[in-house]
Amino acid sequence: MSKRFYITTAIDYVNGQPHLGHAYEKIIADVIARSRRALGEEVFFLTGLDEHGQKVQQAAQADGKSAQAYCDELAVSWTALAAKLGLTNDDFVRTTSSRHKEVVQAILTKLHAEGHFYQAPRDGFYSTKEETFVTEKERLPDGTFPPHYGEVVKLSETNWYFKLGAHQQWLIDHIEANPSFIQPDYRRNEVLGFLKNNTLEDLCISRPAARLTWGIPIPFDTAYVTYVWFDALVNYISVPAAQGDPGVGLGSGVSGLGTSASDQSPQPPDARPHPPLSLWPADAHVIGKDIVKFHAVYWPIMLKAMTLPLPKQLLVHGWWQKDGAKMSKSTGNVVDPVAVIDDWGLDAFRFYVVRELDIGPDGNWTDAGFAARYQAELANGLGNLVNRSLSMLKRYRNGVVPARHDELAPDAAQAAADTISHLRASELQKALHSIWTLVTRANQYVDQTAPFKLAKDPAQAARLDEVLYNLVESCRVLAVLLHPFIPGTSAKIYAQLNLPGTPDKLALATWGGLPPGQVIGEPAALFPRRDTPKA
Ligand code: MSP
Repeated sequence: MSKRFYITTAIDYVNGQPHLGHAYEKIIADVIARSRRALGEEVFFLTGLDEHGQKVQQAAQADGKSAQAYCDELAVSWTALAAKLGLTNDDFVRTTSSRHKEVVQAILTKLHAEGHFYQAPRDGFYSTKEETFVTEKERLPDGTFPPHYGEVVKLSETNWYFKLGAHQQWLIDHIEANPSFIQPDYRRNEVLGFLKNNTLEDLCISRPAARLTWGIPIPFDTAYVTYVWFDALVNYISVPAAQGDPGVGLGSGVSGLGTSASDQSPQPPDARPHPPLSLWPADAHVIGKDIVKFHAVYWPIMLKAMTLPLPKQLLVHGWWQKDGAKMSKSTGNVVDPVAVIDDWGLDAFRFYVVRELDIGPDGNWTDAGFAARYQAELANGLGNLVNRSLSMLKRYRNGVVPARHDELAPDAAQAAADTISHLRASELQKALHSIWTLVTRANQYVDQTAPFKLAKDPAQAARLDEVLYNLVESCRVLAVLLHPFIPGTSAKIYAQLNLPGTPDKLALATWGGLPPGQVIGEPAALFPRRDTPKA
């Protein structure tokens, strides 16, 4: 059984409707998953929902629903979004599923038995919004707490704590020895700075059931439910466990995880029957910049305590704003991915978010910026190239592909090599830059060779054949390179070339794949020009 390339996204809180930020993260993970498959690797791509905790409990109460009914209803819009975005996820985790809850409880039982937890009273300040204790250190100079905490209340409570003290130094050493563990580098440096300048406080892993019922009961003390982050992070291994992954269920790991989810209870409805998969450790956790500490500090420590290997990489993306301001439902300042897709098409949306924002910095959405890129890069760039190349072949050669000619072969080979090396490094925006060097070069080639003039001169028939081969073959190579990003468009180009199958393997990007004599199909606009860009 060979280890799959295992990639995950953050699991979204289910207390609201999905927006651009959630969609962006899922799309970059999907592009990476598709790229790896296109490189010939076996992939497992996981996304899903984080359904427990106070926020969800409160939102359900406000809606007059039971928490589970509320989650079930909202889960419909979130799973619909995954389909709408064209995600190729292999599984979809919901933290309220029995397969997940059983694994969380198995881990808590094991770590408790091994002495990782203790119970203690604490007087302090608590942020309900963030569901976390806030320390004095975090007070701002004016005595208040940072606004993202919302209302901060005084709280005296006895809870269960996870001892972190012994973990600080090995974690620093691990991050220093593995520069690719946290990417980009500036996020890695922030984590190192935090770990070197602070003493880790033990992590509170319980919430009293008296004030929060919507959580996984702590198996050794049912007066408590599990802290939502301890529950949520475990999704990255509870799904592998349910998939029978020996990497989390056997050996020195959490013993019996794999069996607790499948063998000791009836088959959970959300587990798929198939042979066991080898997934853990994850190759990439794709997450936003606001949840780095949970993934770079708590999660590695939880795994170490379970004697499981650490994920290979945390790939941290920035945040989108809209029109220079934070996206917020209350002010109505949000980008609804479903509305954009309905208006402009899925591939226009997928292309834009990856092309506009590199994985790392923050970005800003404007409708005008979106429309401008659509027009310049998709309608006038790629769309125009494919449409005029295929239309000329149709008009001048009845759609029959002429003999092979290699004038643009070096440009295509360079673009393909650069794209592949960027995809291997999850440099998605750079990969699109490389692909566009071929779009631009081929469009220039049309202008330089002027096939419409060659067509008027019978003495130039052989030259016209050469030019047309170079153009349609460039379009074919582009279809292959674009597949991970805009799979629908890539399939349309292949269909218009009347080629069988899907261009879903990067090996197909080798020049010369278009057989002379091939009769292409009907050209049709891929990205129709829009005359009135929406402001
Ligand atoms: N439930 C936790 C994650 C648990 S992972 C074990 C959570 N959920 S969330 O719904 O608040 O956020 C989910 C993801 O969306 C996070 O990675 C977050 O950074 C990302 N984004 C939320 N708003 C965003 C933007 N405005 N822009 C880009 N990504 C944003 O945190």
